Amino acid sequence: MLNILVTGSSGQLGSEFKNISARLNFQFIFTDREDFNITEKININDFLEGKSIDVILNCAAYTAVDKAEDEEEKAYLINHIGVKNLVEVCEKKNIKLIHFSTDYVFDGLNHKPYHENDRVSPKSVYGCSKLAGEQEIMRSEISALIIRTSWLYSRFGHNFVKSMLALGQSRTHLNIVYDQIGTPTNARDLAEATLSCLHNLDQWENKRTVYHFSNEGVASWYDFTKEIFDLFEINCNLQPILSKDYPTKAIRPHYSVFDKTKFKIDFNFAIKHWKDSIKDLKMNIIV
Ligand SMILES: NC(=O)c1ccc[n+]([C@@H]2O[C@H](COP(=O)([O-])OP(=O)(O)OC[C@H]3O[C@@H](n4cnc5c(N)ncnc54)[C@H](OP(=O)(O)O)[C@@H]3O)[C@@H](O)[C@H]2O)c1
Repeated sequence: MLNILVTGSSGQLGSEFKNISARLNFQFIFTDREDFNITEKININDFLEGKSIDVILNCAAYTAVDKAEDEEEKAYLINHIGVKNLVEVCEKKNIKLIHFSTDYVFDGLNHKPYHENDRVSPKSVYGCSKLAGEQEIMRSEISALIIRTSWLYSRFGHNFVKSMLALGQSRTHLNIVYDQIGTPTNARDLAEATLSCLHNLDQWENKRTVYHFSNEGVASWYDFTKEIFDLFEINCNLQPILSKDYPTKAIRPHYSVFDKTKFKIDFNFAIKHWKDSIKDLKMNIIV
């Protein structure tokens, strides 16, 4: 039975792994910042002493995109140095790593879905810090998967869906950006998809491979919000606006749809459309 250590397990994705773990034939160790701080080498080494771990799922990250513009050092400490520390321990103890990254490593100037080999050019501190983490892995000799994902939401943690539900219930109208195009991803689907990688460990032995994973389909933040409101029967008037009329600290890509062919073929995984997946969330979410 595989021994799997999950970092950042109180976040959206980490919580989804926790939630599905009971029905799985793996031995999980769920950690959070308190017991396994990825920025502290001593903490990592002490925690792993005497334990035999096969795979680390790194769900720990600094994810506050706008705040990162003012907290560059902190973002890099977690998203770059934290990953570097994990790479070192994986090298030393022959542990495989599955790391999660973001569509914000791209500049968003593409007009067709981003392939894993497309040129990266992040425009925000968050995107740059996540790219630095990816590069630490790619430079190493460990066995690793980097799974880039986009617009993550979950029944757990803080996310766009929950923010919109709260705003929709307290406002009569909302202005939402319609010139940023991507794909919402249910963290539950990403967790299930990641499991398919765990069933094919030999496939990624001694390699470091980047994959793209999101739900299927395409949406603007306006489309996403409209779907959320229709689904949850929220009566709030939505107005589509341009990004220039909703300035944010961090620059976000205008287009960040992924080409997910590689993931679907390599792991024989069928991906749900985002509109179907958000219906699954409705069954569980606590508003
Ligand atoms: N959220 C999105 O829209 C999105 C989009 C694309 C890609 N991603 C990527 O997907 C992955 C999962 O994201 P998520 O939305 O699940 O993130 P999240 O909800 O923000 O969770 C991140 C977790 O990491 C923990 N953490 C922070 N610093 C840590 C440290 N030094 N040591 C250990 N744990 C630490 C956090 O704990 P605290 O709560 O104590 O800070 C939190 O529990 C990340 O790699 C993220 O970059 C996310």
